[in-house]
Amino acid sequence: MVIGQAERFVQEELGTDRSGHDWWHIHRVRNMALRLARQEQADLLVCELAALLHDIADEKLNASKEAGLNKVSVWLQRHVSDEDVIHKIMSIISTMSYNGGKNPPMTTLEGEIVQDADRLDAIGAIGIARTFAYGGSKGRSMHEPERDFSNMDYRSEGNTSIHHFYEKLLKLKDLMNTDYARQLAESRHAFMQQYLDQFYQEWDAADKDA
Ligand code: NI
Repeated sequence: MVIGQAERFVQEELGTDRSGHDWWHIHRVRNMALRLARQEQADLLVCELAALLHDIADEKLNASKEAGLNKVSVWLQRHVSDEDVIHKIMSIISTMSYNGGKNPPMTTLEGEIVQDADRLDAIGAIGIARTFAYGGSKGRSMHEPERDFSNMDYRSEGNTSIHHFYEKLLKLKDLMNTDYARQLAESRHAFMQQYLDQFYQEWDAADKDA
């Protein structure tokens, strides 16, 4: 029952999001987290609830990270009686974001699983689609071949969607926590590289024709 309540809460909170953090992202991350949790024999309830709630506190969708975490904590206190479960979920949600690779590693198997599930959804064909959807929602350009991004901070203003592949997406394969996720990441990673090759090929061909 708490799962259904969490689904409705998330749908209300993220229902209109167009930046790649919509309900279908949550749906995929939840299903992937359950798949990994069964492989790893992790706590299914903690994995499923943390996956469902993982983006509610996202800085991109709240006034501050604290305000977002508080929202999740209030909801959990109201709907979950087991303090240990609440504690585990809060710890997962507060440390799982990519944050330019600067966050500390996960301390529980369940945290590793939910983080892997979220990262798998950031790569491959869907990851590519989400990157351009997010870029569009922030008014970013797709690609600026003349610009040097090497000194830019993670997610700083002015980054392009293509640059996001290099600052994050192509790094995720080697950051997977579990073996199964690492395995699943291989083909998604290869597809992104193939996509970039084709992207540059078409871009350069347009230059030559001009
Ligand atoms: Ni997410």
